[in-house]
Amino acid sequence: MNYLLGIDIGTSATKTVLFSQDGKTVASASYEYPLYQPNPGWAEQDPSDWWEAVCFTCKKILADTNFDNSSIKGIGISGQMHGLVMLDDKDQLLGRSIIWCDQRTSEQAQFIEDKIGRDKLISITANPAITGFTAAKILWVKQNRPDIYKKVRKIMLPKDYILYMLTGEFSADVSDGSGMQLMNIRKREFSKELLDKLEIDISLLGYMHESAEPAGKVSKQASILTSLKEGTIVAAGGGDQACGAVGNGIVKEGIISSTIGTSGVVFAHTDSLHIDKLGRIHTLCHAVPGCYHVMGVTQAAGLSLKWFRDNFCKEEIDIAGTKNADPYMIMDEMAEKTGIGAGGLLFLPYLMGERSPHLDPLCSGLFFGITPSHTKAHFIRSILEGVAYSLKDSISILREDMGIEVNQVRVSGGGAKSSLWKSIQADVFESDIATVHNSEGPALGAAILGGVACGTFRSVNEACELVITTKNMQEYNKTNANEYNKYYSIYKSLYPILKNEYKKLRELLL
Ligand code: XUL
Repeated sequence: MNYLLGIDIGTSATKTVLFSQDGKTVASASYEYPLYQPNPGWAEQDPSDWWEAVCFTCKKILADTNFDNSSIKGIGISGQMHGLVMLDDKDQLLGRSIIWCDQRTSEQAQFIEDKIGRDKLISITANPAITGFTAAKILWVKQNRPDIYKKVRKIMLPKDYILYMLTGEFSADVSDGSGMQLMNIRKREFSKELLDKLEIDISLLGYMHESAEPAGKVSKQASILTSLKEGTIVAAGGGDQACGAVGNGIVKEGIISSTIGTSGVVFAHTDSLHIDKLGRIHTLCHAVPGCYHVMGVTQAAGLSLKWFRDNFCKEEIDIAGTKNADPYMIMDEMAEKTGIGAGGLLFLPYLMGERSPHLDPLCSGLFFGITPSHTKAHFIRSILEGVAYSLKDSISILREDMGIEVNQVRVSGGGAKSSLWKSIQADVFESDIATVHNSEGPALGAAILGGVACGTFRSVNEACELVITTKNMQEYNKTNANEYNKYYSIYKSLYPILKNEYKKLRELLL
C-alpha cells in the first residue's frame, strides 16, 4: 500500500493529513497561528508561522504513528489563495504576507483596470480587477513600500512558499496562479503583456505547472526539519478551493460544492471557460488539467461565526470547556430553538467587505431587525442564515446567469460539521445536499495531486473515481424553503440600499 501526504495551509491553522492510497485517513495533525489586522480591512499572516506549522505537523504525524517515512510516496500542498509572500536576494521574508481577505487595495484594483482596460483584463485573466487578488497586493507594496519592493527577488503564494521551503524549487501552479490575476487563463501561463503593462518583472515569479505535476523533491535540509524522507516527490499543488474541490470529487460538470471555512465558497467545475462579465463570480484554472472552475466567494463565512463566538460567547466557551465539547455545538443547539428567520433578525456577513456578488471592499457586516425579544441565540441563527443567503446569491448566478448545471450540492468545510447549518443550506439553496465520506477536503485533494505526481494514480479524475464516495443525501424541505425565501428577498434588498452609506462610513475611518 502506498501512502500520500496532504498539507493544507489554512487561515486559522495548517492541517497535515496522512492518507492511504484508497483515501482513508491514517493520521492528522494541525497547528494554529495568528491573523494580524493592524487596520480596518487589513489582514496579514507570518509565513514563518506556516512553515513552523508544517514542520510541527509532519514531525508529529510521523512520531505519533511510528510510520516509516519511505512509504509516503507523494506529497501535495493546498493553500489559502491570493496571499503575497516576498523574498529578498538571500531568500529572507520581506515582512508578513498580505493575505486573501485583506481589502486595502481598492486604489490598486482601479489602477489595474485603468492601465489594462477592464474588457482586456477580463479577456486575459477572466476576471475584473479584484482587491483580494495578488496583483493588486503587489502594486500596493510597490506604490506604498517602495523601499521593500526594491529588495524583492521572488514573489510567491502561501503554498508555493511552503513548497520552496520543502524542496528548494521556485514553482507556481495554474489553479492558485490564476488567482494572482497575472495569468493568461486560456494559455495557462503568466501573461507577458499584463506583466509588462504593470511593470512587474516575470523573473520574480515561479515556474508554472499544472497542479498534479511533480514540482520538486523533499530536500535534505527540509527532511531534517520535517522528518519526511529526502527525495519524496512533491506535486505543484493548488489553491485550497481547487484542492478542496478535488477532495470532494468536483472534477466534472453538474456537481457543485458549498464549502464553509473561514470564507464560504460555491465552486463548480467547467470543461470550458465561462466568464461572468459582471465579475461577481471568479473564473480560474482548475487543478484538473485543461479545465476551469467558477466560484463565488463569501469573504466572512466561518469567520463571522468565529468573530461572534470569540467576542460574545464567553459563557458558551466556558460551558463547552467543562463538558469537553465544541462551543460551536452549544451555539448550534441554542440557534436551533429559535426557528426559521431567527425571529426576524437578518445578518449581512460583510465583515471583510465582500466579493460575491457585490465585489465591494468597503461594505461591512449588519444585523437588521433587532428587537428586545432577540437573544444571543437569534444572533447566532441569523449568522448561520445570512451566510447561507450569501452563498445562495452565488448559486443563483451560476444557475440563472451563467447557465451552469447544478444537479447536486456537496457541502464541506467546518460548516458541514453542523447539522443545523447543513439543513439551513439545503433549504436555502432549494437543493438536496450530500457530503463525502472523507471530510478532509483540501488536504485530501492535495494528497491526490501528490498521488498523481508520484504515479500512484494515472489522473486526477481516476483518483477521484477510486477514492471519493458520498454519504448522507439530505433532501431539502419545500415548506422551509418557501419560508426562507421570504427572508432572503429582504436580505437581498438591503445591500443596494446601503451601498453608498457603507462608503461614507468607511471614509470616516480613514
Ligand atoms: C478564494 C479565497 C479563499 C481563500 C482562503 O478565492 O480567497 O477561499 O483561499 O481559504
